[in-house]
Amino acid sequence: MTLPFDGAISAFFDNDAPQSLRDAIKRADNNDILSTSYPYSEELKRKAYDKQMQAMQIELVKMQTWARETGARIACVFEGRDAAGKGGTIKRFQENLNPRGARVVALSKPSELEATQWYFQRYIDHLPSGGEIVFFDRSWYNRGVVEKVFGFCDDAQREHFFAQVPDFEKMLVDEGIHLFKFWLNVGRAEQLRRFLEREKDPLKQWKLSWIDVEGLSRWDAYSQAIEETLTRSHTASAPWTIVRSDDKRRARIEAIRHVLSTLDYDRKDPKAIGQPDAAICGGPDIWNA
Ligand code: ADP
Ligand code: AMP
Ligand code: MLT
Repeated sequence: MTLPFDGAISAFFDNDAPQSLRDAIKRADNNDILSTSYPYSEELKRKAYDKQMQAMQIELVKMQTWARETGARIACVFEGRDAAGKGGTIKRFQENLNPRGARVVALSKPSELEATQWYFQRYIDHLPSGGEIVFFDRSWYNRGVVEKVFGFCDDAQREHFFAQVPDFEKMLVDEGIHLFKFWLNVGRAEQLRRFLEREKDPLKQWKLSWIDVEGLSRWDAYSQAIEETLTRSHTASAPWTIVRSDDKRRARIEAIRHVLSTLDYDRKDPKAIGQPDAAICGGPDIWNA
């Protein structure tokens, strides 16, 4: 099988990537963290990760039981650049949950019919019913970021989106839906390293798309669109939680921890949840272009 972008990532790496990125990637060991501004130099050790993750997964099961018993509705939005770790984080949330009541929503680009509708309309169909937890792998925030970077919407549509999004989300929250908005932040070298891995691995190639390849040279345009999005949609009712995801393991733990600490479910064990790591999980002020 030949993919339309076969070899495009390596070609970018060899010919176009800034020298500093190439050097960082070539020098690094497997478990080295590439971002120099990341507060750790190595990935969290496997043993510590497994132990923490297992304790949290038990808490997630309790949380789901609570949701099913009380009819609570939970929506978690996952955003971030390509290869930021959205899919992997969602997978860890969902792993031990009853699939009847824990759904992933990953919509493709709007159909011709959907493009004629109110922009938020197609997402509304997927909001949680009582007892459900829904994971949005990308969301209405496409209009803030990828649609801007690729010109898939015009400026008027984007302004309209920013004018509506705070009210839209406030309505969900006032309605009683527990809404979480995660922005996973990955550095440029780490993103490129993950793309190179995906290109080599037949099991991961499906994750690469035309958008990813084109996006390689649009890093700064993404940064601008992201900064604007985080600034204009960080509200009191629906704040962003930024998780620095250069270390996937730490990022998954922080995201799960945030949900568990926020919700008031039965038989909660604060020791299993632990304390948040403010250096890699916080508000938009820890976002890093
Ligand atoms: P992913 O990273 O989610 O696997 P891509 O990187 O290919 O997918 O695309 C990023 C996002 O951009 C997706 O949510 C996709 O639906 C959206 N997208 C792609 N093409 C268009 C388009 N023409 N108009 C609007 N959105 C689009
Ligand atoms: P492709 O690799 O061409 O199949 O495209 C991957 C993604 O990019 C799909 O979501 C396409 O719809 C989208 N895409 C590709 N080319 C364009 C284009 N010229 N304009 C808008 N979207 C595009
Ligand atoms: C991720 O791993 O961040 C996403 O799920 C896939 C992607 O955006 O490439």
